Amino acid sequence: MFKDKNDVRRVGIIGVGEYLPKKVLTNADLEKIVETSDEWITTRTGIKERRIAAKEEAVSDLAVKAAQAALADAGVLAADLELIIIATITPDMQFPSTACFIQKSLGAKKAACFDISAACAGFVHAIVIAQQFISTGLYKNALVVGVEVLSSITDWQDRNTCVLFGDGAGAAVLAPVKSGGILSSYLGSDGTQAELLMLPAGGSRYPTTHETVDKRMHYLKMQGNEVFKLAVNVMADAAQIVLKKAGLECSDIDLVIPHQANIRILLALAKKLNLPEDKVYFNIEKYGNMSSASTATALCQAIREGRIKKGDIVLLDAFGAGLVWAACVIEW
Ligand code: COA
Repeated sequence: MFKDKNDVRRVGIIGVGEYLPKKVLTNADLEKIVETSDEWITTRTGIKERRIAAKEEAVSDLAVKAAQAALADAGVLAADLELIIIATITPDMQFPSTACFIQKSLGAKKAACFDISAACAGFVHAIVIAQQFISTGLYKNALVVGVEVLSSITDWQDRNTCVLFGDGAGAAVLAPVKSGGILSSYLGSDGTQAELLMLPAGGSRYPTTHETVDKRMHYLKMQGNEVFKLAVNVMADAAQIVLKKAGLECSDIDLVIPHQANIRILLALAKKLNLPEDKVYFNIEKYGNMSSASTATALCQAIREGRIKKGDIVLLDAFGAGLVWAACVIEW
């Protein structure tokens, strides 16, 4: 088996896939729903359009399509999968885990299944978790999916938030690799900032009642300005930490795949890391913020577009509600 200098298995991403719903919601469409403008949305966020799942599409439906593409790319049969981790804040239901619905649709009978809640940093968290299981030898492979139907928790009367989000799914298959793979990782959190971004009702704190629905507490609430200020710093810090752990410098990075929350956050991150913009991957213009699916689809698209080549150093870097943040350095 392939081991690194610490005598644990090297783990890499051996296949990726994505699925984006067909329906496109443009800024012009949003102008008809709330008091906003294409000009405001574009200059403040960098978003031009986003995808919206069809009424009959739940998160697991999007995830299965992305997963099938990733399994085909990796050349792994669903029947041989040993672990499925789904990163989502919009599960099909409170329980059972969305991972179990996906297991059923894929026919991945052997796989252990669970979901994780790490919001927009969920995909990177799930990659790091899967790496641990594979590097210790407990499982031979893992499927990780970052997937959201954020349109289901978006308040379409709140212009502060409804212009930002979209729906989508991105998947990756992880397995032992001979060389390269995940070189270092880091997970961080600050629960004192939990109030900044949340879905208040529907859990045990505020079970769903007529009152919670009347108060629109089953929709996402965000203090955007405060999140913005923290985002750049935590992403930059996480990047510095994983690079140091891997014995690398910012100048060694070939491509950053960041969480796509706001173009201004990404440009500020590039500046802080002293990286030219062409070393940062953006898909926010077409898809908005898809939470855990943003990093996942961005990785898949960057590979498909030839932006990542064998031997490249890739930095995954994300933050989200919690606040939580996560980064990892991967040698491709
Ligand atoms: N259209 C037009 N005007 C809008 C608007 C919209 N869709 N949304 C807000 N505004 C208005 C506000 O009401 C405010 O008006 P006021 O000055 O009259 O009160 C004004 O625009 C500025 O609001 P502000 O919140 O200061 O804007 P901003 O420059 O901070 O941009 C965000 C707002 C949400 C785009 C930005 O803060 C952001 O991206 N934050 C991070 C969010 C994030 O990353 N969330 C996900 C975490 S994973």
